[in-house]
Amino acid sequence: MRPRRLLVVDDDRLLCELVRTTFELEGYEVDSAYDVIEAERSLAESRPDAILLDIGLPGIDGIFYLERLRETPQTSKIPIVAISGSDEAGRAARAAGAEAFLRKPFSPLELLALITPLIREAGFGTMGTGSDVVDAANLNRLIEIGRRQHQLLNEAYAQTVAVLASALESRDFGTSRHSRRVTSYATRLTLEVAPRLLDDPSLEWGFLLHDVGKIAIPDGILLKPGRLTPPERRRMQEHAELGERLLAHVPLLNQEGARVIRSHHERWDGNGYPDRLSEESIPLGARIFAVVDALDAMTDMRPYRTPVSWDAAVEEILRCRGGHFDPDVVDGFEACEPDLYSLHMQELAA
Ligand SMILES: [Fe+2]
Repeated sequence: MRPRRLLVVDDDRLLCELVRTTFELEGYEVDSAYDVIEAERSLAESRPDAILLDIGLPGIDGIFYLERLRETPQTSKIPIVAISGSDEAGRAARAAGAEAFLRKPFSPLELLALITPLIREAGFGTMGTGSDVVDAANLNRLIEIGRRQHQLLNEAYAQTVAVLASALESRDFGTSRHSRRVTSYATRLTLEVAPRLLDDPSLEWGFLLHDVGKIAIPDGILLKPGRLTPPERRRMQEHAELGERLLAHVPLLNQEGARVIRSHHERWDGNGYPDRLSEESIPLGARIFAVVDALDAMTDMRPYRTPVSWDAAVEEILRCRGGHFDPDVVDGFEACEPDLYSLHMQELAA
């Protein structure tokens, strides 16, 4: 009896691993592909009974790839389950020929419940009887367990983030409020510039914890009222790299969120730190974040200077379009600036 095969196409390695573990327990063989090239290689080697396809794959329009799979004779009849964090992408995927859509985040057991009947209907794979087919009552129970596990995991991560955020607050009184403000600005600006980035939950946590590496910076430098000397500035600049290293082993932060932490002081013109990246080699989340970080630094009271007005800060950001900041991100900033100002006023009132 040939085992059923599932191909998972998603750049989220943790999700691929969760799906693989769950499906292998049910007797599936699971291939993971982290991009389209790997997916094509896997499809050339063996035909899966179903494909799980992330619509938000980097570097390619997921809907376009889905249409291509539908038009190719070898893959035209294979059931495809599309996954995405956006319902709109889900509707587009269904219109493009996906048999089903599952909104992220989901439990792998929900996916199992969705895919098993699709494979049966399509007549692919050699479906056994009796113990080989998942009993519906057991499956519902498993789904419930999976949901609870997912919830517990999310709560555990939220608690970890809260502990780190309060550790920051204990070092530098202003930092925690700054983190909360820039997180709300950055989330709004991401919605304007690249809404799909918000599918990755690590992004928001990266915004919140962008300066976590400052935990390792001595008070004498962190809270110094005057200008930093060149060696002190170099020490301060280490916070970006230190922050990324601190969180390197937290899997749910280890995607776009970790990139924001490392690269939020890079500049479009290549004069930033720690890697002197330039233009599109800087992760997009970090390019977005850099704009709102500067906005908040200018409009908030800091030990080393008094704040400037909101309008003056906006003008300065527009002036730095294409120099310090990504011009497209600055255009997005200009478009949603009234919303950012509302968020600013809400924070002042809180
Ligand atoms: Fe920073």
